[in-house]
Amino acid sequence: MKKAQIAYICQNCEYRAPKWLGKCPQCESYNTFTEEIIQSKRYEVKPIIGAKPVLFSDIELKDETRIKTGIEEYDRAIGGGLVPGSVHLLGGDPGIGKSTLTLQIADQLSKNGHKILYVSAEESAAQLKIRSARLGISNKSSIYVICETQLDSIRSCVRDLEPDVVIIDSIQMIYKPEIPSAPGMITQVRECATFMTHDAKEMNTTFIIIGHITKEGTIAGPKTLEHLVDAVFYLEGDRYQSFRILRAIKNRYGPTSEIAVFEMTLKGLEEVKNPSELFLSENRDGRTGSVVTASLVGSRVLLSEIQSLTSPCHSGFPSRRVTGLDHQRIHQLIAVLDSKYGFPLSHNDVFVNVVGGIRIEEPSADLPAAIAIASSLKRKSVDASTCTIGEVGLSGEVRPVNQINLRINEAKKLGFKKIIVPKGNSKELSVINDIKVLAVSQLIDAIDLCNL
Ligand code: TYD
Ligand code: MG
Repeated sequence: MKKAQIAYICQNCEYRAPKWLGKCPQCESYNTFTEEIIQSKRYEVKPIIGAKPVLFSDIELKDETRIKTGIEEYDRAIGGGLVPGSVHLLGGDPGIGKSTLTLQIADQLSKNGHKILYVSAEESAAQLKIRSARLGISNKSSIYVICETQLDSIRSCVRDLEPDVVIIDSIQMIYKPEIPSAPGMITQVRECATFMTHDAKEMNTTFIIIGHITKEGTIAGPKTLEHLVDAVFYLEGDRYQSFRILRAIKNRYGPTSEIAVFEMTLKGLEEVKNPSELFLSENRDGRTGSVVTASLVGSRVLLSEIQSLTSPCHSGFPSRRVTGLDHQRIHQLIAVLDSKYGFPLSHNDVFVNVVGGIRIEEPSADLPAAIAIASSLKRKSVDASTCTIGEVGLSGEVRPVNQINLRINEAKKLGFKKIIVPKGNSKELSVINDIKVLAVSQLIDAIDLCNL
């Protein structure tokens, strides 16, 4: 009898090795190798019969082809609705709310007259029904459900039913018996997703595929699939806190900068239309190391709070811990504060954090972060009704940011009385009442204005 060929495959990057390795030589991750039986032959995907090349100029664009889910935050974050025939991957930690969100999407879509197939590979129909009752989904809802894990049976069901949207919950449980690996292994996940992508394009059906990620990244999942699908979204948040952020990682049909914010309630996920209020903690009066900023997230301005803590370092190797901001930029700001303005940060551990699990990618958070560090070091608080915005350069100069008026307006809306902005933006400033706008050209001027 022919001996089955075995290889050890990195579940993170698909590197193959003849023996088990502790560290992957390609992606350098640890403990990611799993034994898998090698399939010499790859399964053929049926070609689309009659496919002919068309002239670019002959391609017609229909006006509004997107399917609106009816959950406004979700629609906005994905670029205006689901594109028919596209494949979405919804990733996230177990228990974060992926099944809840997709069931709510299915309900809204079915209310809008779309045919939905919900493939539940993890939960039984009865469990799904209990969840739907909790979410307030009507008994008359026209969502089709199958509890199935075999790919071929799901595919034939999709062919018979011809739904507009198929939801797969989750890809880690789906398998093809001909493939010798266990469900959830990289080979199974990749092959099953390839078939689904093919069916989506051929039948013009939208697929929303759920994928779990684990902290260790050892189970094959979203990372493997990212290049196969049209769009990748991650549902993030702290399981012990109520809000969740949907973030686009890749989107062939829309921007990747938008986020959608939801709050997990007893009745499922609720949209948060004005997230700024959620991310600002209450009673900021008299708190050292806390500064508010207005940053641009996608097309929206979000007010968030940057916190810093400095404490004397006794080991000789000061530590720097940053959450929600770019590490390199914080290191740069610490260097500017230390060497240019004499803040003794080389003898202090520095911690910087953005409240609420928000990630600010743009440099406009430099000025508030630097002020927060200075405030913590001096043990003096910044007035809680002050907001600051600006990029800081290596010589301590404050550089202009874009969309300044939008940011000032948002700060004013939330009751801020004073805003420190870059002098380089002065020319664009429009007259905005009820908020004092102070323009600065140097970081030290902003620190002085905050009375630190
Ligand atoms: P779930 O959607 O099952 O997570 P995932 O599919 O990502 O694994 O969500 C599970 C958590 O959400 C669970 O801890 C309970 C909570 N939850 C609520 O708080 N309210 C609700 O209405 C529902 C359905 C779930
Ligand atoms: Mg689930």
